[in-house]
Amino acid sequence: MNVTRPVRLLHVTDPHLFGDEACTIYDVNTASSFRKVLDEALGDGAPPPDAILATGDIGDDLSPQAYRWFRDSLRGIGVPVLCLPGNHDEPALMAQLLDSDGFQYCGRAEFGGWGIVLLDTHLPYDPSGYLTKSELARLEADLRALADRPVLVCLHHPPVPVGSAWLDAVGLRNGPEFLAVIDRFPQVKAVLAGHVHQAFDRQRGQVRLLTTPSTCAQFTPGTARCVMDVRPPGYRWLNLMPDGTIETEVVWLRDWVVAGRPRDSRA
Ligand SMILES: [Fe+2]
Repeated sequence: MNVTRPVRLLHVTDPHLFGDEACTIYDVNTASSFRKVLDEALGDGAPPPDAILATGDIGDDLSPQAYRWFRDSLRGIGVPVLCLPGNHDEPALMAQLLDSDGFQYCGRAEFGGWGIVLLDTHLPYDPSGYLTKSELARLEADLRALADRPVLVCLHHPPVPVGSAWLDAVGLRNGPEFLAVIDRFPQVKAVLAGHVHQAFDRQRGQVRLLTTPSTCAQFTPGTARCVMDVRPPGYRWLNLMPDGTIETEVVWLRDWVVAGRPRDSRA
């Protein structure tokens, strides 16, 4: 395949939506902040991205209405939406409501010569993440199937510590097992996660490890205990280049007033 243009992706994560649009967490109305992120990211008249990636904690109250609201907010954009579950999600509901009509739940996808693999790290009633043996085997099978295409792997829980002890304690429990798999596939160029409500960007060998701010409230990086950040909602652009490199940029909402450091410290 002769690919000459980048694949452009919009990454949104941890919107923590509720069945009731009026609900807030960390003093942020999550429906309102999610809508503002979409308006700012997509409302400038530029061509739409090739796809939207949503890496978990899409819902916060285990309600089908939260996922329907997410689906209805994105459906009109007319680009594929690739989803995976976070610790606050209900995977069965996501598979039921977010795996048709332009939405994809987990699995793998291909865009413009790139492969994308979407993993499930959800553990019931547990904030930390885990890749089951079958999910690790599926990752390996997908990477084999994608052969020499450059690959972006997406999951909710970052596979390495990000430097905040309280978040690292609820990270991916078997991160080393995951890294051992991707180390055998040099076509993996980046790993993209959510969960930590902050931006992280570190090179590990040939793989770039990225996390993205939440579309609602943020956690202050580098803290032993939960400290809310006054930064506004955010999102990330990724350009997957034809040569296998990645250009990426985090954007924080411009038009957002943070009244003060949010009070709630719920993890
Ligand atoms: Fe979250």
